[in-house]
Amino acid sequence: MIEVERLTKKYRDRVAIDELNFTIGEGEIVGFLGPNGAGKSTTMKILTGFMPPTSGKAKVAGFDLFEQPIEAKKRIGYLPETPPLYPELTVRGYLKYVCELKGVPRAKVKSEIQRVAEGTGIVSELDRLTGVLSKGYRQRVGIAQAMLGAPPLLILDEPTEGLDPRQRKEVLDLIKSLGGKHTVVLSTHILAEVKAICRKVLIIHRGKIVADESMASLTGGKETGLEDKFIALTSE
Ligand SMILES: Nc1ncnc2c1ncn2[C@@H]1O[C@H](COP(=O)(O)OP(=O)(O)OP(=O)(O)O)[C@@H](O)[C@H]1O
Ligand SMILES: [Mg+2]
Repeated sequence: MIEVERLTKKYRDRVAIDELNFTIGEGEIVGFLGPNGAGKSTTMKILTGFMPPTSGKAKVAGFDLFEQPIEAKKRIGYLPETPPLYPELTVRGYLKYVCELKGVPRAKVKSEIQRVAEGTGIVSELDRLTGVLSKGYRQRVGIAQAMLGAPPLLILDEPTEGLDPRQRKEVLDLIKSLGGKHTVVLSTHILAEVKAICRKVLIIHRGKIVADESMASLTGGKETGLEDKFIALTSE
C-alpha cells in the first residue's frame, strides 16, 4: 500500500528525514514511533501529499504521489497533528464540506456522516460549532473527517493525543477494527497503544529508520520489552 524510496526532507540546513526506505502492506496497522523531532510528522505530511519532499519517491496504492497526486490522495484519509477545523462551521457542516472535497456521492453524505460520528463518539456534538468543542472532541472530529469516504489508507498523526482514557480505548478499538480492510499508519508516544493494536512497528530516530519489524520480533516474542528496545534504539 505504501512504498517509500530514499525519501528525504531538508528544511534549510536541517535534515528532518534522511533517505527513508520502507514498505507497508495492505491491511496492516503500523505504529510509527520515534522521540520528539524524529521526523514522524514530516514523513506523514509528505505521504499525504501535504508537502513535497526534497528528494526521493513515494507510492500509495501503486500511484506515484508526485506524478499522480490526485489518484494517490483519493485513497488517503489524513489526521494532521493539528486538525484543520473551521470554527464558524458546525461539526455536521464541516463534515459535509469534507465529504464534498472528497467527492462522496450526495446520496451517501448523510449516512457517511452518521457512520463516522458513531465510530468516533461525536453524535451528540454534530450540531455544535467546531470552535466551541473541547480539545478531545476536536481531535475526535479530526479522526472522523479522516474516515469519511472510507479511504483504504489512513495516516493518523497522534490520533489519541488529548483524549480521555475511555475515548482513547474506543479510538484504539476502532482503529483495530479497521485493520484488514484498511491500512493504518499511526504515530504515538504511548508504547502501550502500539503494543495493543499494531503488528508492525517502524521506529525513526533523527530522520533515519532504526527498526522496521514485526512487534513480535522487536520484543523477542514477549509481551513486554518494547519500552527498553525503544529507548535503546533512540538514545544515541
Ligand atoms: N516547518 C519547519 N521548518 C523547519 N524545521 C522543521 C519544520 N517542521 C519540522 N521541522 C524540523 O524537522 C524535524 C522533524 O520534525 P517532525 O515534526 O517531523 O518530528 P516528529 O517526529 O513529528 O516529532 P513530535 O513527536 O514532537 O511530533 C525537527 O528537527 C523539526 O524541528
Ligand atoms: Mg509530530
